[in-house]
Amino acid sequence: MCYNKGTEINVEKGVDNMKVIIAKNYEGMSEVAAKIIADKVNSKPNCILGLATGSTPVGMYKKLVEYNKNNEVDFSLVNSFNLDEYKGLSGDHNQSYRYFMDNNLFNHININKANTFIPNGKAENIEEECRSYDSKLAEYGGIDIQVLGIGNNGHIGFNEPSDTLSVCTHVTELTKTTIEANSRFFSSIEEVPTEAITMGLGGIMRAKTILLLASGSQKAEIISKLVTGKINTKIPASLLQIHSNVIVVVDEEAGALIMSNDNKLAVSIVKN
Ligand code: PGA
Repeated sequence: MCYNKGTEINVEKGVDNMKVIIAKNYEGMSEVAAKIIADKVNSKPNCILGLATGSTPVGMYKKLVEYNKNNEVDFSLVNSFNLDEYKGLSGDHNQSYRYFMDNNLFNHININKANTFIPNGKAENIEEECRSYDSKLAEYGGIDIQVLGIGNNGHIGFNEPSDTLSVCTHVTELTKTTIEANSRFFSSIEEVPTEAITMGLGGIMRAKTILLLASGSQKAEIISKLVTGKINTKIPASLLQIHSNVIVVVDEEAGALIMSNDNKLAVSIVKN
């Protein structure tokens, strides 16, 4: 599948495997991302997709539904692993990430639901749930392409800024900023779960390709830190700088600071 790549920035400064694509707007970001996923599925029909929730990938999922309906991509052999799930919410709760994935993607494409994995937020033994999620991931051979959003605080999945980060799937307390950011989906902030199960940095970093998406001006600062800042556990996404194959797709607003002429970032912009 070919597509208009938009403006592409090749990042220098030792981060030689991070490619940044700046699309015009949210629609363009969604299209570029969906085509990257569709290309992966077409070249490896039984691939393992790592999937994410949040507002950012919704447009990408819409495009994938469209491509599937037009027979441009076939998900029948695909397996998927999601990044995270709220602790305490069952899959039929309308704010659970299982519910989100079913409604935004799985119910509308020809994927076998039995091959879609999301941590069980209501598991009786939550530690066991985390261990078995990692074992299953290992058994399937790891993720071919991992979709990520990014929190304004730099979290990926629910790996929140901290002095230490976890390798394995684990239960984590959500930070105040994450609870505030996610309260827009709930009727009140008190209803937002305070804990979640999240894949750790190990599961994410072992993915063969990382596809990180961001849109809107509120993400410009964190995208700049992701691409050019120092690696720091207080910005979990910055660890992606040491991954060997990262594609960052942003719209112009989220890419504003890395495109600015004034900033001292060592990036070279290549117009396609
Ligand atoms: P968003 O969330 O896509 O809703 O901005 C991203 C994230 O928190 O990872």
